[in-house]
Amino acid sequence: MHLFLKYWFASASLIVGLNGCTSLPAHHEKSLYDRLGGGPVIASIVDDFLRQLHTDPLLQSSFGHTDMTKFRQLLIQQLCYATDGGCIYQGPAMPDARAGPGVQPAQFNAWLHDMASALDANCAGLREKNEVLGILFAMEYQIVAKTD
Ligand code: HEM
Repeated sequence: MHLFLKYWFASASLIVGLNGCTSLPAHHEKSLYDRLGGGPVIASIVDDFLRQLHTDPLLQSSFGHTDMTKFRQLLIQQLCYATDGGCIYQGPAMPDARAGPGVQPAQFNAWLHDMASALDANCAGLREKNEVLGILFAMEYQIVAKTD
């Protein structure tokens, strides 16, 4: 093979983006959990998400009385379960997992937006980001208040 082509293939196999994130070639046999980076990265995504939640004008007021240690643990567990990481989610089912009046659509959008930022901050690939957001979006009917 021509030396230039060899060099091109070698560099294309490991691309470091401008944001410093490393994207590895897709391994289709790996779970979404593993592709995200496993337990430590899931925990870091949840921590970044919670930092955003605390300053989000649409969300912060709903969590004034929440035990954040337990909440964090359940979010990590739920994300691990939903991404095929082999965890068992031990919290309440989503329709019961909220206090006070029903969740509004704008709050649900804010949740997804904050989660998207947390995924970006943890170098999730575009495919992985879309998969996580798709999983969360599919929970909308269980969480958002129905007007009829
Ligand atoms: C896909 C999106 C969402 C997921 C995966 C999710 C997940 C969870 C989980 C795992 C809990 C913990 C249950 C517990 O502590 O017993 C919880 C509680 C809660 N969620 Fe959600 N949630 C979502 C969307 C929302 C939205 C948009 C709101 C809007 C404000 C919301 C408000 C709450 C509240 C107020 C609680 C109760 C916290 C407490 O116990 O004090 N959730 N949610």
